[in-house]
Amino acid sequence: MSVDLDDSTRADADLARRTTVDVTPANEDGACKSGESNAVAGPEATARGATSEEILAAPTGSESGVVTTPSGVHRLPEQRPRAPRPSGPLSGKRTPLRRFLARSTAAVNRALDALPPGRWLHRAFCPRVQIHHVDVHLSRGHRGLDGLEIAFLSDLHAGSFLDADELVELFRRIQAEEPDVVCFGGDLINTREREILLYKDALAELAPPLGIFAVPGNHDHFFGTDIGLWESWLTEHGVTVLNNRGQRIEHAGAGLWIAGVDDLTEGTPDLEAALAGVEDEPVVLLAHHPDFFFEAAAVDVDLTLSGHTHGGQVRFGNIVPLHHSRFDWIEGRHEVAGSQLYVGRGIGVTFLPLRIGAPPEVPILRLRIGSA
Ligand SMILES: [Fe+2]
Repeated sequence: MSVDLDDSTRADADLARRTTVDVTPANEDGACKSGESNAVAGPEATARGATSEEILAAPTGSESGVVTTPSGVHRLPEQRPRAPRPSGPLSGKRTPLRRFLARSTAAVNRALDALPPGRWLHRAFCPRVQIHHVDVHLSRGHRGLDGLEIAFLSDLHAGSFLDADELVELFRRIQAEEPDVVCFGGDLINTREREILLYKDALAELAPPLGIFAVPGNHDHFFGTDIGLWESWLTEHGVTVLNNRGQRIEHAGAGLWIAGVDDLTEGTPDLEAALAGVEDEPVVLLAHHPDFFFEAAAVDVDLTLSGHTHGGQVRFGNIVPLHHSRFDWIEGRHEVAGSQLYVGRGIGVTFLPLRIGAPPEVPILRLRIGSA
């Protein structure tokens, strides 16, 4: 899918094109199905190449590009690569056309959900959610983090083909795996505020010892004009919303930061705010849109978890008609010079009530410390 760059992102993309990097899907569980190395312009071009030395140079900067000021406040370099904003009629910021398409297709899906043929279609073309483990080797971190498990749920799109009872059943299956942390990668709702209420009983099923975290996706920004209401409802129900902020958790005496940014399409992601206070400990970043990895990898975020693409939702082998990532970060694991990305295929559906070649998944990422 070709994507036009708007003016604000063209400079970054041009800079990145000076070098190409191999984004190699891993071949472990949950790996990208494309099975090929995709040479794409990526953050390495600006983060670690000759250009990076100019861009990331800072008076007291570390190798990660994070600047520590004398006051102890952590700042990111001003002239670092920024994630390119999605653009175009189907992937850009909410326009009247996109809003109309999203709302009308959601209404069609709700109608189909209420009719036996629609349910049959969904059952026939949307397999059961796969819950599976993926080992992620971090190059740094205390041994106490070894074995920590993060269940990653994205793109539930509750409201059509995912009701309150199905959420309860799914969350029970996830809790049975006893993850240490549960993270929501955005798009919990589809297009209506009331859809968040479907989570009330399901959230009560989750009891990860280190917490439940969430970031908004573009569909969550349909929550009226104030995403704060979406945040406060989740907060009241035990979810820590990381909308441009981070939180330190501890496992066996070892520290790990769970940080999150607002959605790249509809929101205002602020990586510096998300990483404020981060010391020399590994960071797991929640960012709904996978293209935010362009920015996160440039400052050596250890692991970014994204969704949004639904793995293409409808794909025929390597042919993916619509996936929303200009870097082809469609699903599975990708790595850019030590910084890792996992793009979950998500759980729900949009536009069409079916999935072909992109089964729904909940990856449980098991952190491994040390060499693979
Ligand atoms: Fe999304």
